[in-house]
Amino acid sequence: MTRHFLRDDSITPAEQAEILDLAAQLKADRWSQRPLEGPQTVAVIFDKSSTRTRVSFAVGIADLGGTPLIISTASSQLGGKETPADTARVLERQVAAIVWRTYAQAGLEEMAEGTRVPVINALSDDFHPCQLLADRLTIREHKGELKGLTLSFFGDGRSNMAHSYALAGAMAGMHVRVASPEDYAPREDVVADADRIAAETGGSVTLYTDPLEAAAGADVVVTDTWVSMGKEEEKLARLRDLGAYKVTQETMSVADPAAIFIHCLPADRGYEVDADVIDGPQSVIWDEAENRLHAQKALLVWLLRQQ
Ligand code: CP
Ligand code: NVA
Repeated sequence: MTRHFLRDDSITPAEQAEILDLAAQLKADRWSQRPLEGPQTVAVIFDKSSTRTRVSFAVGIADLGGTPLIISTASSQLGGKETPADTARVLERQVAAIVWRTYAQAGLEEMAEGTRVPVINALSDDFHPCQLLADRLTIREHKGELKGLTLSFFGDGRSNMAHSYALAGAMAGMHVRVASPEDYAPREDVVADADRIAAETGGSVTLYTDPLEAAAGADVVVTDTWVSMGKEEEKLARLRDLGAYKVTQETMSVADPAAIFIHCLPADRGYEVDADVIDGPQSVIWDEAENRLHAQKALLVWLLRQQ
């Protein structure tokens, strides 16, 4: 049966570990896997802007022997003109997989239901699971085993990134803390799913409103933009509401002394994080950005093997 990667819990903890091991192998030996030799084509569709996701999928697909077909929704029939299911039926006759960055999670689900080729979520309003594969690879490289580590997220707890940390962190047996104002707390259904996963892996998800309490002893400190794509009209309110959750030297001073700082990027220095943290010695953001390539290649190899 076709496997898709629509949310962080679309793969099991054991499968996730397998993909991360494969990513590490591909990082060490970049052209060792060529499942797209032919070349086969992978469609990579963008409803929203992107630098890292676009480049890492395009380069990764080429590394695997394939051809990336980058499609901008504005110049396609998607986006109100044709349904995701019909689009999928057209694409599957010609491509090996579909990667899609979009708004509603429901569109991805419809796309996946309508096709026999793997569909990958390249960011939706609700989740950013490809980023979390790269982040877990990065944390593993710098901190060793993921299980038992404490990861503290600061800012918009209802964002795609916070939701993905809750699910993916729980899957890895990590202790995830989300610090946000109550109005920006993660969605209850996502927390319930993460709690259910954590009960099996030994991880946990805890919500905080006090940022320093959430930072105490953390192994990984993470934040994300306060104004996610699609939320631009709320910008002023968000800058006001989330100000107390900025990651600063004070945040890092209460975290574990060996803590690392990560950020999916793009970043707004001086807003969600101060420049002396994101550009400081504890920051591993460039490794994290590079790891998008290795992690997504591993994901594609793994999904294509399940076909
Ligand atoms: N982190 C991330 O997904 O970056 P892009 O928006 O540039 O793809
Ligand atoms: N939360 C951000 C992530 C960008 C990669 C957004 O959705 O805009």
